[in-house]
Amino acid sequence: MTMIPVDFATSELNDLTGHSGCLVVFADAEPDGDARRVDQSCQGAIARAMASETWTDVKPGEALELAFPAGLSAEMLLLVRLPRDAAEDLARKAGARIARSLGSQGAVIAARSVAHLPQLLEGLALRAYRWTLNTSEKKPLGAVTVAVTDPEAARAGCADSLTRAEAVHFTRDLVNEPANILTTSEFAARIDAMRDLGLEVEILEETDLEALGMRALLAVGQGSESPSKVAVMRWAGAEGAPLALIGKGVVFDTGGISIKPAAGMEEMVGDMGGAGVVAGTMRALAARKAKAHVVGIVGLVENMPDGRAQRPGDVVTSMKGDTIEVINTDAEGRLVLADIMWYAQTRFEPNAMIDLATLTGAMLIALGHDKAGVFSNDDALCNDLLAACANEDEGAWRMPLAPSYDALIKTRVADMKNTGGRAAGAITAAQFLQRFVKPGVAWAHIDIAGVSQPVGETEMSPKGPSGWGVRALDRLVRDRFEA
Ligand code: BES
Ligand code: ZN
Ligand code: MN
Repeated sequence: MTMIPVDFATSELNDLTGHSGCLVVFADAEPDGDARRVDQSCQGAIARAMASETWTDVKPGEALELAFPAGLSAEMLLLVRLPRDAAEDLARKAGARIARSLGSQGAVIAARSVAHLPQLLEGLALRAYRWTLNTSEKKPLGAVTVAVTDPEAARAGCADSLTRAEAVHFTRDLVNEPANILTTSEFAARIDAMRDLGLEVEILEETDLEALGMRALLAVGQGSESPSKVAVMRWAGAEGAPLALIGKGVVFDTGGISIKPAAGMEEMVGDMGGAGVVAGTMRALAARKAKAHVVGIVGLVENMPDGRAQRPGDVVTSMKGDTIEVINTDAEGRLVLADIMWYAQTRFEPNAMIDLATLTGAMLIALGHDKAGVFSNDDALCNDLLAACANEDEGAWRMPLAPSYDALIKTRVADMKNTGGRAAGAITAAQFLQRFVKPGVAWAHIDIAGVSQPVGETEMSPKGPSGWGVRALDRLVRDRFEA
């Protein structure tokens, strides 16, 4: 739940050899300077390891564990293969590998000759995430000391990376929290607490939403005891029209009256993943004082069946004024997004808008847990977004939009219906959303149903929520929206 403590120090050889946890050194064809000095204290164990066939099989970014090495206090010596000219993503990978060997005793990393230290530590921090409500169950991970020549310079150089990792943890925590704890009110409170970072935060309550005409969003939450809310976050780090980030924040999705089957329903505690990514990204931008103007707007609702819940066949009027026939109350995310997208555009007149949502099971079926589906009306924005995802190793794949799909959401009863049947389920959802994009606004919709909660561990996260998108969006802001 909290970041592992990372600190920087100039460590003497005896600080390295005297550390009781994990001692991390680097080598490729040759041991680096630190590794060579440590090797003298452990009777040449490193040289012998590197002469072995086992080392030949260790790929760049991977490592060899030497347990209880003679001459060292460490319970483990971790020999990481990291070429001197390694690219940033390899450094990140090596960091994540170190995290996998980290225990309660912590680690000291002999990092004097590591080239991309910020990326290495980001990988470490991302992979060293732990979440459990039962804190007595496991010993927490120990602190990490990074031994470098100039600790102050290293601390400053790594600050943004560690801040970003902390923002990813924030998102993962939100997705992990069960719905009895992370209610709409609790989610709003956690967003509100980000004022401390200098974010402007506004929480719109049900009366405000009624006055704005957000009947589509309100219809989704009307069967729940938890009040529907919209949180507006603003980071004004620059002048001019903002980028708008929009997130689906369904704190629990039972399906409503079109109730979901019992098996696997508990996964719907993560149906606020889009809102979680938006909140985490805003956190990262504020924490690093990004020179960009970005607004984050999330719709916080709970989709429950109840005497007051909306029913199939209901017709709701969106804030835009378009009417929607609710065929299936389980297609609730698009109802929420329609209203907050419209609100974002009327209030903030953004030049670009990106929405994130665990929107459709169809997306999960199409691309699995590896890649998010990206839909966009603007090639330049889409390409920049895909490049940011690629640079951060967050999988993404462009999906089509086309007017021909509109026939699937046509109805006699209203301007549109909220489902288009099984065929092209992720695309008809995106077509639906596009109806709420004003002309001239560059827009991308990211369906994160698959990537938000991968089935197992991934390179950068333990099993559970990935926090997919926080790094890519932060990167996109840095590369496209910052001066
Ligand atoms: N939150 C779900 C989509 C989802 C499914 C996310 C699995 C993550 C994993 C969404 O609200 C939903 O229920 N969508 C329906 C839409 C259908 C009724 C048109 C779906 O995908 O089945
Ligand atoms: Zn949902
Ligand atoms: Mn649903």
